[in-house]
Amino acid sequence: MQIRKENYFVMKKILAPSILSADFGNLSDQIKLVQNAGAGFIHCDIMDGRFVPNITFGSLIVEAAKKSTTLPLDVHLMIVEPHLHLDSFLKAGADILTVQFEAVTHLDRVINQIKEGGAKAGVAINPGTPVDLLSEVLEIIDLVLVMSVNPGFGGQKFIPNAVKKIEKLAELRDEMGLNFMIEVDGGINLQTAPIVAAAGADVLVAGSAVYNSANVTETIKNFLKIINHRG
Ligand code: DX5
Ligand code: ZN
Repeated sequence: MQIRKENYFVMKKILAPSILSADFGNLSDQIKLVQNAGAGFIHCDIMDGRFVPNITFGSLIVEAAKKSTTLPLDVHLMIVEPHLHLDSFLKAGADILTVQFEAVTHLDRVINQIKEGGAKAGVAINPGTPVDLLSEVLEIIDLVLVMSVNPGFGGQKFIPNAVKKIEKLAELRDEMGLNFMIEVDGGINLQTAPIVAAAGADVLVAGSAVYNSANVTETIKNFLKIINHRG
């Protein structure tokens, strides 16, 4: 999963469907459906009703998701005091564990805890948080998640300032010779996907655009076609 600098341009971009918009009564089938259609990661949105207004699910559902797929689980913690819960999400099978920059006091420590637990460490930034604030951790993280909506709900409208943040991160990665992945999350659909892919995003999260579409398999295939289209 590590992207080597010399070949990230040839690496295929990844679609990470968010199960937030899935039918939880049939979660296992809903996960298998997107895996079979070509999804690369399964994105799990954890919300606590404190960092964001909404409450979603916890590590029990992540554990259940793990049993339904061989794809990496991309777990996005939108919770306060995430350091208190890292172990339970690591045990549940998170392959990538991403914390919100705005929710963490001791970021360096949290990143190291995630890596010591055997997962890839990601940091998410809200639309109002500048990329510059990550300068001291870019060298030690595996993924930066650029939020293109204010976190809390699926189905919101894409906030365009994410595009220049993705471009800036891609530039910094190049200048610094690093290999973290750039992920984008919120309001990604067949219209916004080509824009963020061209800006340099490697991983695109899509919830409602995938699970609320009439034909999930067709939609995923269309996403993959447009995000991996070259020239
Ligand atoms: C937003 C979550 C997203 C959300 C994306 O708070 O982090 O992952 O599920 O949903 P869509 O793709 O519907 O904007
Ligand atoms: Zn998310």
